[in-house]
Amino acid sequence: MSESNPIADLQALEKEALAAVKSAQDRESLEEVRVMYLGRSEGRLSAILRGLSQVPVERRPEVGKSANAVKERVSTALEARQSELVAPSAESELDLTMPGRSRWRGGLHPITQAVDEIWHIFRDLGFARARGPEADTVWYNFEALNTPLDHPAADEQDTLYLVDSVLLRSHTSPVQMRTMEANEPPIRIIAPGWVYRRDTYDATHTPAFMQIEGLVIDEGITFVDFKATLAEFARRYWGPDTQVRFRPSYFPFTEPSAEVDVKRIITRPDGTQYETEWLEIMGSGMVDPNVIANAGYDPERYTGWAFGMGPGRIAMLKHGVQDLRTFFENDIRFLEQFAR
Ligand code: PHE
Repeated sequence: MSESNPIADLQALEKEALAAVKSAQDRESLEEVRVMYLGRSEGRLSAILRGLSQVPVERRPEVGKSANAVKERVSTALEARQSELVAPSAESELDLTMPGRSRWRGGLHPITQAVDEIWHIFRDLGFARARGPEADTVWYNFEALNTPLDHPAADEQDTLYLVDSVLLRSHTSPVQMRTMEANEPPIRIIAPGWVYRRDTYDATHTPAFMQIEGLVIDEGITFVDFKATLAEFARRYWGPDTQVRFRPSYFPFTEPSAEVDVKRIITRPDGTQYETEWLEIMGSGMVDPNVIANAGYDPERYTGWAFGMGPGRIAMLKHGVQDLRTFFENDIRFLEQFAR
């Protein structure tokens, strides 16, 4: 180095070092460049700094500062080049024959799919969709539905109360009354939604579950309309050979009441067929005249039918799922089997 101009030496060194960094083609040669210029003992910058003692005292601060700045810039260039070399180059690492990675697509939950399919069938039969609040009053959930508060269903053992007279609805039937109040007959609605009960969490019960309410109110509606509509629904949902059975039952808000079962005929892949067990799909009945009167309609003039269906059970059956809880654990390995 020329004693007269250490700053010029530093500038020349920087230029050379930066060019060497740029032309390094792999990490090893880059490391060699680093050692050659910035290496602690043999590095050329270190040599210049060691030579500082030869520089006149008054120039030392200026030269020292400049040397540090050069070191800084060369280090930065080394790091930048390093990360360029770490990223795989297109030709060396990309195997164009590798299968593509499939892109994750979300899907509808199997119970949501069942609700949609069921609702679409009723929509095609002329029903409208209705909804009501999940937190509702004891009036809508029980009393308006002809269910006195000392009925076991209204008990705190079974129903989740929020405050005295407000609860998490235990069925979708309160939508019956809310719909009748807000409309005039004829009424034909389907109301899917969440309902809540104090149930133990087991293979067939969850404290929150889906129900689908159906309600028809008009002049001259009889049980025959109900049977025909339900049979048509079952054939459209499960196939033309599906059988439907009505069993007498009891609900405070329907008279008479019935539970509806379906039996399916399944065709195996080899063409042979078998019948399933009877599956209970809903509670139902002719709307009690007291309920019609509570809605402000004349029960002598209007009659109707209603049902409450369990799409969770229907989805279990459809997919051969044995434990209802698997629908709610959100294990993606389970749920993605139903993605469509
Ligand atoms: N709400 C009843 C239940 O939750 C079902 C039902 C609805 C029965 C409508 C009759 C009419 O079990």
